[in-house]
Amino acid sequence: MARPLKILFVSPEVQPFAKTGGLADVAGALPPALKALGHDVRVMLPKHRSVLSAGVPLSPLGLEVTAKTGDQTRKGFIYQGTLPESVPVYLLENDSYFLRDPLYGTREGDYPDNAERFIFFCQAILESCLALRFIPDIIHLNDWPTGLVPVYLKTLYRKAFSATRTVFSIHNLGYQGNFPPATLSQAGLPPGLFHPGGVEFYGQFSFMKAALVYADLLTTVSPTYCREIQTPAFGFGMDGMLRARGKDLHGVLNGADYHRWDPAHDPWIAENYGPKKLKGKEACRKRLEERFALDIMPQRPIVGMITRLSQQKGLDLVMQVMDDLLATGAGFVLLGEGGALYEEYFRRLGSHPRAGVAIGFDEPLAHQILAGSDILFMPSGYEPCGLTQMYAMKYGTVPLVRAVGGLKDSVREFQAKSGSGTGFKFRHEEKADCLRALDKALSLYRNKAAWRRLRLAGMAEDFSWTRAAEKYNRLYLKALRT
Ligand code: ADP
Ligand code: GLC
Repeated sequence: MARPLKILFVSPEVQPFAKTGGLADVAGALPPALKALGHDVRVMLPKHRSVLSAGVPLSPLGLEVTAKTGDQTRKGFIYQGTLPESVPVYLLENDSYFLRDPLYGTREGDYPDNAERFIFFCQAILESCLALRFIPDIIHLNDWPTGLVPVYLKTLYRKAFSATRTVFSIHNLGYQGNFPPATLSQAGLPPGLFHPGGVEFYGQFSFMKAALVYADLLTTVSPTYCREIQTPAFGFGMDGMLRARGKDLHGVLNGADYHRWDPAHDPWIAENYGPKKLKGKEACRKRLEERFALDIMPQRPIVGMITRLSQQKGLDLVMQVMDDLLATGAGFVLLGEGGALYEEYFRRLGSHPRAGVAIGFDEPLAHQILAGSDILFMPSGYEPCGLTQMYAMKYGTVPLVRAVGGLKDSVREFQAKSGSGTGFKFRHEEKADCLRALDKALSLYRNKAAWRRLRLAGMAEDFSWTRAAEKYNRLYLKALRT
């Protein structure tokens, strides 16, 4: 390595401190992989309520920072925890903003003060660097709650951070952090920035737009999503902007954290197993059948889903194919929480003798469903990367996915002739196309030898983080040349 870099990795959620989805998995695994390359990597997130129940040791650093939202000066206190590879994690405490669960809002909607909460967070990130005397070479930011850091670095904090460069990663363009125009002055930013080439997005102040305009380099979490977001169909209105920055936008496929997601040493599953000892998977399936009292017909698979219940995940399509799926005699298991209407539908579905439904967030059950299912179903409308399908492959659970974003990049289509591939894919967000893929999977399932081969092919895939960390390393060096 040429020179170890000082890197601050900022995310609103980090496993095991706080998690709603895959971003937490990334933020818990990529920084240790970067540290293993020799960099001085540190992580920062808000001290959410869930941090208290996470069971991880924290110590107060005795450092206080202040940040301004509107004309109010607010205080924050820094705590420290650690990730693997001894990566320091800074947790920003301000109980009135962050001592909440869920992280961003309730079923009824986002918290009304989200703009204020994350203005505070973005400023406090930079104030914390100053208080810690840690001026990073690179600040790597993730998703809209961190989106104001690049614009602060180019305005209010320019002098103190003149050599620092920012990399902003888009994990989901569907969440943009758009707020009324007055948010600009609440953030303390100059009025001149409110125009379509700056932080304005169709009359609103946008955290995401601010990041896309002002970050030195942009990334997203798969090569296909990188292309998709530059088109109107997937761009959520920002595709023009992303095309304009096409040279600075890179797709890096996420990795899978095999320290947490490996059936050979998963503490939560009925029996450990691996490619040489697949028997344990049968025990896991049996346990899952018992837990949900599933009445599955012989020689039929269990189709599993572990997902946020949001429209992004293709749940309307799931509802359309459900009768046909259950009529085949297969079992269906879902773990998820989110949209009230989806929760209601799946709760009702749970009374079907072949369906098992758990509404809620349950880490051990997520592992048990991955281990006990035969097929993982991810018919997403869009999917920036998707991690669950990568974990599924490691657990010998065959992914059946819509060919979008990272699903397209990580699952190789099964080829009947050669027997190659790792899963099943369909293209169109349509019932007939999806049913065709399900049908293909269900008939292959009856061929024990072929199914075993498919399972083993998935288990042999390697999505470990080292490869992605090396790509980010090269991008950091590129950002430093800007
Ligand atoms: P997204 O980030 O869009 O939610 P990913 O597939 O990238 O999708 O990551 C989802 C992560 O969240 C996985 O680790 C998955 O196991 C976890 N997850 C999602 N819903 C739940 C739930 N209800 N309970 C436990 N874990 C969940
Ligand atoms: C987002 C995306 C998901 C991705 C995750 C981590 O939540 O929806 O596809 O895997 O971020 O990058």
